[in-house]
Amino acid sequence: MAAPRILSGIKPTGRPHLGNYFGMMQPGIAWQEKGEAFYFIADYHAFTTVHTPADLRDHSRSVALDFLACGLDPQKAVLFRQSDVPEVTELAWLLTCLTPMPMLENCHAYKDQVAKGVVPSHGVFAYPVLMAADILLYNSNIVPVGKDQKQHVEVTRDLAEKANRLFGPIFTVPQPSIVPEMATVLGLDGQKMSKSYNNTIGLFEEEKALRKKVMSIVTDSQPVEAPKDPAASSIVALYKLVASPDQVTQMEADFRAGGTGYGDFKKRLFEGIWEHFAPFRARRAELAADPAILDAILADGARRARAVALPTMERVRKAMGFGP
Ligand code: ADP
Ligand code: TRP
Repeated sequence: MAAPRILSGIKPTGRPHLGNYFGMMQPGIAWQEKGEAFYFIADYHAFTTVHTPADLRDHSRSVALDFLACGLDPQKAVLFRQSDVPEVTELAWLLTCLTPMPMLENCHAYKDQVAKGVVPSHGVFAYPVLMAADILLYNSNIVPVGKDQKQHVEVTRDLAEKANRLFGPIFTVPQPSIVPEMATVLGLDGQKMSKSYNNTIGLFEEEKALRKKVMSIVTDSQPVEAPKDPAASSIVALYKLVASPDQVTQMEADFRAGGTGYGDFKKRLFEGIWEHFAPFRARRAELAADPAILDAILADGARRARAVALPTMERVRKAMGFGP
């Protein structure tokens, strides 16, 4: 069997956090060894909310640097900016015309905004169709994402199957890939970690800021002496992501035994996070020192991405009845 095509995207709406890293970046980096991986900075998607041009540009570069610093290898994986292949918006339009409104009315980003009383833009409503276009344009087999994106990959599958029924086998039907233990990383308040909830721990925070954030994790008010339930604690859940199995077993035992306060556990968690990302921090500083490195990687990525996207568009236009 040919090597699978793996594809995922991340929105440059701010700096990536532990949820982005463990839910998507780390699994994506592992996949680069197993197939042809395509990862992109979803700046068209970020444009649903980021309307300051300098921010959109800076965040796009900064997220790309973060991804590279964490181990994305541009020799193995293709790293590109979504907007460097604008054909994706053409495909999004074609798919839009095949998308029943109720399918999008059901999607969570749109529903959340309506529930909050915000008037959603058409971009937010149509967001999953653009995502389907991303996935189908590059003939993707596997889409590594966190659990919150599963619904969008299902929309993509439905649209691909519908188009294939109507126009012949033009699209590869993709599958999501979700690592169960990392499906939903919890934030400082115990809810899902998300930029929109303001409860994130960034990958590359300054030491002082990181310590402050970890110390602010919400806990119950049990006294130091009380035995505590490790399964109910987001400190333990986060520690599992960054510590060795022995360290986790020790923390769980100390929870059950009583006699240790949450402050101590948080200090251990801080150390774990700080050490886990130390090598990446050094690498990021090196990459950021010369902007030409990133420019070259993104230009090469755009070239390799277009080499896949253009033939897809030719095939799709022809099958759907456009052109001579
Ligand atoms: P945010 O929700 O903070 O805006 P994004 O929508 O940019 O994050 O998510 C980028 C990727 O990171 C997606 O694949 C998403 O599923 C994953 N992800 C985001 N938050 C989490 C989380 N708390 N746990 C696991 N994966 C997550
Ligand atoms: N919608 C994804 C998110 O919010 C980002 C994204 C855009 C994406 N296009 C994609 C993820 C295609 C996987 C495949 O996180």
